[in-house]
Formats: sequence, C-alpha cells, structure tokens
Amino acid sequence: MSDTAISEALREAVAHALLAPSEHNTQPWHWSLHDDVLDLRADRTRRLPSTDAGARSVLLGCGCALHHLVIALAVAGWRAEVRHGSDEDPEHPLARVTIVPGDVADARTRRWFAAMTTRRTDRRRFSGQEIGPEIVERLADAARAAGGTLHLAVGATRRLVLEAAREADRALREREDYAAELQHWTHRFAGAHDGIPAASRPGTPAVTYGDVDIRWMPSGTLDRPRAGLDVRDSSQILLIAAASDDTVSLVRAGEALSAVLLEAETVGLGVTPFSAPFELPETRDHVRHLGVGAHRVPVIALRVGWRLPDAGTIPPTPRRPLHAVLTEEP
Ligand SMILES: Cc1cc2nc3c(=O)[nH]c(=O)nc-3n(C[C@H](O)[C@H](O)[C@H](O)COP(=O)(O)O)c2cc1C
Repeated sequence: MSDTAISEALREAVAHALLAPSEHNTQPWHWSLHDDVLDLRADRTRRLPSTDAGARSVLLGCGCALHHLVIALAVAGWRAEVRHGSDEDPEHPLARVTIVPGDVADARTRRWFAAMTTRRTDRRRFSGQEIGPEIVERLADAARAAGGTLHLAVGATRRLVLEAAREADRALREREDYAAELQHWTHRFAGAHDGIPAASRPGTPAVTYGDVDIRWMPSGTLDRPRAGLDVRDSSQILLIAAASDDTVSLVRAGEALSAVLLEAETVGLGVTPFSAPFELPETRDHVRHLGVGAHRVPVIALRVGWRLPDAGTIPPTPRRPLHAVLTEEP
C-alpha cells in the first residue's frame, strides 16, 4: 500500500469529519497528519470560556468528529485503529489514528455515512407521537456500538434533568460574558464558517415545548411547522452516559453521541442536544448518576421526537475549510 494512498484516505476522512456537530458550532478540533498517522487534538482556543468552562463540550465535539472520521474511513474501505490519549502534552493527542485495508462497510455504517451530510440539529416542535421502545433500543444499540450508553429519562429523572436545564440556563444567562458569547456565536461574519446561523434558530428567543425548555438563543428565522401549533409536543429525553468524567471518557461519550445522532437521522427523528445541565458544577451535581446507573455519569441530554409532516428541511450550518483544521507534515 503506497503511503500516498494512506495519506489521501486520511485527508479525505478529515474532510468528512468536519461535518460533526459541536457546541455553538465552534468546531473545536485540530488534526495533524504525519508519517501516515493522524492525530486529533482539542483546539482549546475555540472553547466557550463562559458556557463550557471545563471544556467538556470541546471533548464531546472532538469525539463526534473522531466517530465521523472512522465511519468515513470504513466506507472508503479502511479499518481505523484508534489509540485514545489524554491530550495533556503534544506526545499524547486525544486520538492517534492509523489505518489498514478493511472489509466492505456494513449497511448501518453506510447509512451513518449518508446521514452525516443530512443530519441537522432540530430546535422545532415535534409531533405528538412518542418514539417507541424499539426506536429507543435502536438508538441505545448505536451508542453501544460506539462504546457508550444511552438511557431514556422518564418520571422523576426526566423532571430533574429538565429542572436542571432550566436552572442552568437561567444561571448562565445572568452572566454577562455568557450573553456576549452567545451573541458572538450566533452573529458570525460569513467568512468565519462557524457559529449557529439564524436559519437554525427558532423565531422566538426562548422556546418551551411542554415541560422542555431548550437553550435560550437570540431569535432566528427557522420556520415553525404550522401543523405543530395545536399539537402536543411529545419529545422524549435521552441521556448519554460516560464511564467517568475524565478526558478519554468524554471523547468516547462524544463518539457515542455521534452514533446516536446519525442513527436518529437514518430513522427520521428530530434531535436537539442540550448540554446546559452539565455545564455548571451545581446543576451537574443534581443530575450526577441520575437514571444511568451507579457506575456511569450522564454527560449530555437529547430531546428527541418525530418531525411534523410539514416541517421543511433545515439548511446546513457552515463548516471551516479543511486547511483550517488539518496540518500536514511533509
Ligand atoms: C457537545 C454539544 C453540545 C450542544 N449543546 C447544545 C445546546 O445546549 N443547545 C442547542 O440548541 N444545541 C446544542 N448543540 C448543537 C450545536 O449547536 C450544533 O451541533 C451546531 O450548531 C452545528 O449544527 P448542526 O448540528 O445542525 O450541524 C450541541 C452540540 C454538541 C456536539
């Protein structure tokens, strides 16, 4: 196998990994390609200092990008060998990826690859029909395939997660720098190729669907499906859990998050990730171990539901060019 083919495959896969979701679409990752080895590092200059003080969302976003990369490689006929690391010094990237020729990708991997280009964060009202246990199991299976776990939050757990989300959103909004940060990432200049454009944000700043409040954002232009106005939104709340709170566990949870989002897209579900409850130590403590078992910690919540029949398509959010996220050593 020529070195050029390997470098080319890795470069191509990084271009696909750019499609991964990240908080406020900051795209907080950097890849470096050297000697047919690809390293992933967190780009902490793109951390949200007020919203994501602990860089937890940075690591989740990096995990999403890593999972997207591995799926793109698999579809191109490569098996990725991934070594996770702590990212504490240049010798230990978050992930070191090498590749060898692999088998033909299975049907699910090919569906996930297709979903990478059509998936969007959907902050609109969903239908009154709940997602059934088979769909929850399908999403949980996707999480397991990527080394994570997924849990349906019901009853008291659901109430506590939603309360924590409201409390965190209220507390965060009281911080002056938080508001400035949101303003910054929702009003980007066109050449920035990042942030959350108006077309991805609902028309009113604060949005409540039944008992679910999604993160307050400056209002945008995202159309509300009209059929939704008299329909009870039956969003369900899912939790992605990690083995622990450390760097490697958060990256791995990000990989599971990516798998769940891609599987949700293949079955036609709408999803809004919401991370606010996990961003403040106080609210994070309220939801620690909640509904996910004693030996795991929830790291992000998802609001999931069926889209209404007249919900139009949401345009893609921008992504930075490949050269901004990839350096290559000759
Ligand atoms: C770790 C993480 C946390 C996120 N938190 C929120 C959130 O709290 N509220 C929200 O509306 N979207 C949230 N998102 C969605 C991002 O804003 C979205 O992925 C990004 O703007 C890119 O848009 P796209 O998902 O449509 O590609 C989060 C995404 C990730 C990966």
